[in-house]
Amino acid sequence: MIEQTHLGGNFTLPGTAMTLNRVGYGAMQLAGRDGNKLVWGPPRDVEAATSVLREGVASGVNHIDTADFYGPHVTNQIIRKALSPYPDDLVIVTKVSVRRGEDGSWIPAFSREELTAAIHDNLRNLGRDALDVVNLRSMFSIHEPKEGSIEAPLRILAELQQKGLVRHIGLSNVTRTQIAEARAIVPIVCVQNHYNLAHRADDGLIDDLARDGIAYVPFFPLGGFNPLQSTKLSDVAARLGATPMQVALAWLLQRSPNVLVIPGTSSVEHLRENLESSTLQLSPEVIAALEGIAGEA
Ligand SMILES: NC(=O)c1ccc[n+]([C@@H]2O[C@H](COP(=O)([O-])OP(=O)(O)OC[C@H]3O[C@@H](n4cnc5c(N)ncnc54)[C@H](OP(=O)(O)O)[C@@H]3O)[C@@H](O)[C@H]2O)c1
Repeated sequence: MIEQTHLGGNFTLPGTAMTLNRVGYGAMQLAGRDGNKLVWGPPRDVEAATSVLREGVASGVNHIDTADFYGPHVTNQIIRKALSPYPDDLVIVTKVSVRRGEDGSWIPAFSREELTAAIHDNLRNLGRDALDVVNLRSMFSIHEPKEGSIEAPLRILAELQQKGLVRHIGLSNVTRTQIAEARAIVPIVCVQNHYNLAHRADDGLIDDLARDGIAYVPFFPLGGFNPLQSTKLSDVAARLGATPMQVALAWLLQRSPNVLVIPGTSSVEHLRENLESSTLQLSPEVIAALEGIAGEA
């Protein structure tokens, strides 16, 4: 049995003084929705969004994932209003290389002008002098990692880092080749890709990054826009007296010590449930039962 601890213990991003509790919070759910436009406009209940952020931080969350293209701008503005002046140990990770179309689409934005504007948008809307960690999101395919060089935009981001606007750099939606290409240019502290109980393309990559001390931060840890649904998961959860989402998060935490989870929620109740998942103990038998989920149709 792997002993789980409050908020999953912690992990220090390589080459930094940033020690993150392994259960963090993903802020994408704080923006609203306008018809088919997802992550768009203000939330229905700004007070609830504020409460989620404040309770998360009060409960020990010191890792928040965001992007200025959530809303756009809305999520960062809510974070600033709810949490500024920020606690000293709070690490806000943002991402760049996407802009939103008026129809809500997600458009690649890799030019020098777009990347520079994105950094300044984040600085202004979060109310910070420098951004803690900025992930460059690859966009050769919006949905999954796809090969292609990320050298040009990464060099621009590295220049912005040298100017003091960005402390550390990470990557998102990337292949192994892109990670290797990036690491030859700048130190990479974290990788954020799609991964959860049912979507395990990065199994090998997680282990390799663990060996190199780099954080792996799964996005869509609960299935994202299509929350995980599996009889196996529900059965295990019922046996443990937990919820399926708690089991899904506990499984990620036991998966590897470099996995940092950032479940997204707009609800204080779900936030509490998600934070509590860190103390759920999973036996080898339970883990074996959960392994089958990835093979389900
Ligand atoms: N790098 C990238 O390309 C990328 C892409 C997507 C997301 N992200 C980041 O990853 C974070 C996590 O992803 P995500 O928010 O899209 O998806 P997620 O965490 O996998 O799932 C969020 C969904 O699960 C629901 N949920 C959360 N906790 C729950 C619980 N305890 N019980 C039942 N339902 C629950 C939420 O609804 P409620 O609001 O009702 O709780 C929401 O519908 C995002 O917030 C964002 O910061 C990054």
